[in-house]
Amino acid sequence: MAGVNENYLKLQVGYLFPEIGKRKRAFQQAHPDAKLISMGIGDVTQPLAPAVIAAMHKAVDEMGKKETFHGYDDGGVGYAFLREAIAKNDFKARGVSIDIDEIFISDGAKSDTANIQELFGLDNTRAVADPVYPVYVDTNVMAGRTGAVAGQGTYLKIVYMPATADNNFVPEPPREKADMIYLCFPNNPTGAVATKEQLKKWVDYARDNKAVILFDAAYEAYITESQIPHSIYEIDGAKDVAIEFRSLSKTAGFTGVRCAFTVVPKQLRAYTRAGQSVALNPLWNRRMCTKFNGVSYITQMGAAATYTDEGKRQIRGTIELYMNNADIIRKTLAAFGYKVYGGVNAPYIWLKTPDGIGSWEFFDLLLNKANVVTTPGVGFGPAGEGYVRLTAFGDPQDVNEALDRISRVSR
Ligand SMILES: Cc1ncc(COP(=O)(O)O)c(C=O)c1O
Repeated sequence: MAGVNENYLKLQVGYLFPEIGKRKRAFQQAHPDAKLISMGIGDVTQPLAPAVIAAMHKAVDEMGKKETFHGYDDGGVGYAFLREAIAKNDFKARGVSIDIDEIFISDGAKSDTANIQELFGLDNTRAVADPVYPVYVDTNVMAGRTGAVAGQGTYLKIVYMPATADNNFVPEPPREKADMIYLCFPNNPTGAVATKEQLKKWVDYARDNKAVILFDAAYEAYITESQIPHSIYEIDGAKDVAIEFRSLSKTAGFTGVRCAFTVVPKQLRAYTRAGQSVALNPLWNRRMCTKFNGVSYITQMGAAATYTDEGKRQIRGTIELYMNNADIIRKTLAAFGYKVYGGVNAPYIWLKTPDGIGSWEFFDLLLNKANVVTTPGVGFGPAGEGYVRLTAFGDPQDVNEALDRISRVSR
């Protein structure tokens, strides 16, 4: 008899996007002529940069010749040409020294943030923000690292740190002891960013508690304010206690191409039960070589093109288009009298529902009255109740039309 992993049966948050889909379909069936506009999508809409396309075409041609053919990416951790470009442009340019052996190229930050837990003991306490990118929680549930369902989409044995308007959506380190701390800045879903001072508190907490910070910086390219750190390694001492996840998905439109990377500093350590310290970099290397065979040469060539002058200019142009959307959404909704957060250093706008109505109620109102689809904040955790998330990834025309429709249903 094959036993099932019963941890999967505890999962509950996966209802969010199916439920949105169900409500959209029901609406569309009842109103076949209505044109829905999605402001809830977390996927990009603009095409790849021409420099990326040219590099990928060239790589395809190389693959067609015996002399320039590439098979397995040796070691499965990424070509040196890409890791060098990352170390130079993403870190050295910001005053951070990262060795290329500390950079691991992968197929996504989603899989890396999920898989990294393999390096940690089962009995570690995890801390996450509430609301949270659900992957951090669900993957721990799947692996049996949490307790039972605790209600409202939460689980026992996870420390939830409310991110609310009162703390500018940047939680303080908890009073309880946490061993693994998931932080995401710029944040999905709230669009909040953390200052150097705020991140320093986390680095100090991790150093004091021998904890590890899992820092998801998938949206760092959207930061517009110069004083906001792009990497946790801009904080002194962070290399001793933090792993950082980056992705080309939102930075360069790679959601359908798949390329990301994770930084595991050589000095970062976790501990055996007996208290012996163990370096995590060789363990992640071992894990990658054993369970992964690398990202395709073609993809890595495309990724490297985003670090050329031409590539940088082109991807910046697309990010500016999205951030222009964010700016319009934020300012227009504020002018209608809504309370809005985010959208300055992130492609997400966190909208407080009016008159204290619930996230799903406001979702239904916008769907039915404005034919605009959003994402109910409560789907990201109990502290998301009373908010909806809007994204800036749409076409500018659609964004304007959606705002025009919302203006007609506003108070
Ligand atoms: C916070 C966060 N991390 C990671 C990801 C996934 O990135 P990737 O496409 O590289 O798997 C997303 C995508 O929506 C995200 O919002």
